[in-house]
Amino acid sequence: MTESANLSSIYNNLIHLGDYYPLEIIIEKEEADNAINNFKEKWQPYNPRKENKRFGLSLTSHDGSIDGPNQIDLDSLHEYNKLHNTSFEEDSFKTKTSVFKSFSKLQKDLEPISQYICRSHIIKLNAGGFFPPHRDLDPKTFRLISLSNNCSISNFVLLLNNQRIFLDQQHLYFLNTRVAHSVFSFEDDVFFFVFNILVNIETASFVRSKLLEK
Ligand SMILES: [Fe+2]
Repeated sequence: MTESANLSSIYNNLIHLGDYYPLEIIIEKEEADNAINNFKEKWQPYNPRKENKRFGLSLTSHDGSIDGPNQIDLDSLHEYNKLHNTSFEEDSFKTKTSVFKSFSKLQKDLEPISQYICRSHIIKLNAGGFFPPHRDLDPKTFRLISLSNNCSISNFVLLLNNQRIFLDQQHLYFLNTRVAHSVFSFEDDVFFFVFNILVNIETASFVRSKLLEK
């Protein structure tokens, strides 16, 4: 089997379970609150070329930094690469930052797949902040996300395939982001986590082993 057929086959096994589903892993509110407070001066504009009320705090980055002049991991890789003639990919950003290291319980929970965690961050949206409909088509990674502080149903909308979906806050979810998706915030200080994970047998087995509904 070619490498690309192999990746598709593993990914298809993940979406066979649904386009989104919860895992038993929870991001503790206390750990999220602490990170949001302790790093409050460190939020960077997400995709700085676009006027938008959205910010990022790196959980992983190219060199472990969270506020360097080139926080490329908080940019649109597609746009950054086009502009600078570079070829950064999701797995160019695997060094865990001090923010990630402040989540002791989460680190422990993700330990079995730690080496496969790629570009990951916390996103903060203020009122009017959004990600327009798009697909994440990198064949090498899949997404785990977790809605955090203030992602209540009246503050925040997540659309997948033109349908609004509702996720329990704090739980980590598998989300099939190859399907068109978008988010919009009606309030300030809405936070969610995005993890990019390499597609391979180990990470797919890990997801299966952590399903909330078995
Ligand atoms: Fe996305």
